[in-house]
Amino acid sequence: MDAQTVKSIKKKIRYESERTAPPEGFPKFHDIPKERYTSDEFHELELEHVFGKSWLIAGRVEDIPNPGDYFTFKKLKEPMIIVRGADGEIRCFYNTCQHRGAPVVREECGSARRLRCQYHSWTYDITDGTLVALPDERDFVDLDKTERSLPRISCDTFAGFIFINKDLNAVPLLEYLGDATQMLEPLNCETLREVYRRSIVIPCNWKVTAEAFLEVYHFRHIHSNKDGFSVLNSNQAAMGLYPNGHSRQVCGYSNQQFRNHGMESWDDWKPLDNGPFAMIETENQEFLDMVDCTSTAVSYFPNYILPLGTIGFPVLLFWPMGTGKTLLEWSYYAPKDWEGDEMPTHWKKRSEQFDQIMDEDKFNMAPMQESLESPALTGIPINYQERRIWHLHEQIDHLIGEEHIPEELRIEKLLSPYIES
Ligand code: FES
Ligand SMILES: [Fe+2]
Repeated sequence: MDAQTVKSIKKKIRYESERTAPPEGFPKFHDIPKERYTSDEFHELELEHVFGKSWLIAGRVEDIPNPGDYFTFKKLKEPMIIVRGADGEIRCFYNTCQHRGAPVVREECGSARRLRCQYHSWTYDITDGTLVALPDERDFVDLDKTERSLPRISCDTFAGFIFINKDLNAVPLLEYLGDATQMLEPLNCETLREVYRRSIVIPCNWKVTAEAFLEVYHFRHIHSNKDGFSVLNSNQAAMGLYPNGHSRQVCGYSNQQFRNHGMESWDDWKPLDNGPFAMIETENQEFLDMVDCTSTAVSYFPNYILPLGTIGFPVLLFWPMGTGKTLLEWSYYAPKDWEGDEMPTHWKKRSEQFDQIMDEDKFNMAPMQESLESPALTGIPINYQERRIWHLHEQIDHLIGEEHIPEELRIEKLLSPYIES
């Protein structure tokens, strides 16, 4: 992100704090039909067309540094394996033996010269997944080994993350992410390492979890400290809608918070003192100062959100496990400047603070799902500063295709004029 864009975001924040209503001509949203969160039929459509056609984060490049290193991936219905080939490239295959369907690899991670099914020992090449050997080949009549390779899934990397896409004809990853890559490029993500990881299963639809991180309308109400002090001023949330359902948000600090940080005003963006924490190194100081002096977050469609930070940041992932069941994961990445698994005290404290915020967010999720299933809630009215949620839903419908969605469950296309090109 260039200095000019950072400047324009600052201007947008000022605009947001001064406006007395949504911008002239901004559309009125109809209620989001609540069945989009409760219908099994709609959920199946999402699995097929959204999770089946989008680039999804499956892991990190440093988890498989050497040829033959692999890990299995079970977040989607079909088991998969991600492996670094002899040529150093990372690829993804279905973890399904082409003999009788046993898993080719059973361990969560490991290293192998070849991928050998433990049932009858059919053996596959780590680089292209071809079937290279099988016992008693003479007993199969006319077996054509070239037709029995492990089926591939699209796989690519960006910012140190490994992405997969079940759609073999998907647009390339960088094209899919588009300008939303600007939010990660300055942060040297390839050099960051996982500091800690958490995961919980919540009895609610995956969108209930994702949407909790797409607005700050709720922030001062559930994230204020005991003295009623909120870190953010949610009237200063400047949002950007990218194509393909991605979006960003930059929100100014509250008066108390910017003073705590030694800033003169909310827009006094400058390098802050982050105490004992190692800072992310960057060439793009303007961007880093913005991240330091605001709450800056980027969300990538459909299911990963990164609330950015200059000392590192978490990646939040929302995996559907059923219509009303979601696996919520968060992994914190940072310029790790210590050896071993034991976190230094300042990081322990940091992780506790972040887990506390996540607790406050997840507190509502299961009860909200109960209400979505109750006749008491008829629909979901959302407002201008919740528009990133609408943007998510529009992209869901775009991928599913309007003709596949029952009319009463559709979302009107309203935000096209507001999408940055
Ligand atoms: S199922 Fe894999 S070798 Fe038979
Ligand atoms: Fe929150």
